[in-house]
Amino acid sequence: MNNVFPSPHPLMATKLTILRNVETEPKKFREVVREIAVMLAYEATQDLATRPTTVQTPLAVTDGTELMERIGLVPILRSGLGMVEGVWELMPSAEVWHIGLYRDERTLKPVSYYNRLPVEPTVSVCLILDPMLATGGSAVATVDILKKWGVRKIKFLGLIAAPEGIQALHDAHPDVPIHIGHIDERLNEHGYILPGLGDAGDRQFGT
Ligand code: URA
Repeated sequence: MNNVFPSPHPLMATKLTILRNVETEPKKFREVVREIAVMLAYEATQDLATRPTTVQTPLAVTDGTELMERIGLVPILRSGLGMVEGVWELMPSAEVWHIGLYRDERTLKPVSYYNRLPVEPTVSVCLILDPMLATGGSAVATVDILKKWGVRKIKFLGLIAAPEGIQALHDAHPDVPIHIGHIDERLNEHGYILPGLGDAGDRQFGT
């Protein structure tokens, strides 16, 4: 799969170790989620289109660069929320569009319960923010929603993935790059990633 980018950075590995540690408290956990999200966003946005501009320094007018693309941050509720703030600081003009999905207990398929996207797309590139790519169901459903909305350039950013989730997202949407902190071993019988870090929502929000 040439569209999957696990981070090779040693700081990613040390930060994920903090998140995996069962002793890490929610405050520290949120801090590190935020830091990792910034690192992933920095990596994932290397190909953003820019145009030349000029800028007045205190000494002279010189060449500058400005972004051409309108960026949408799309956190999947609720655990994606903790990834928004850091990425938003990096690109403050981004719009934030929340998507809420739950898993139907009978069909095991994701069902959308929150989506306030306007009829016409207002952004040209979307970064989906979801800490855990487990079965891939929510990620696939979110890409479906965004493509239907009319966005063609979509990237997935997550902290930890299971191979099953990577496969599912890649099979459904091979054009969507997957930027991930680490690919773990597998899913357990309850759909949790092993070794993982537990429930990313509970660990952030202290629930
Ligand atoms: N969601 C989580 O929060 N953790 C997992 O391991 C899988 C899905």
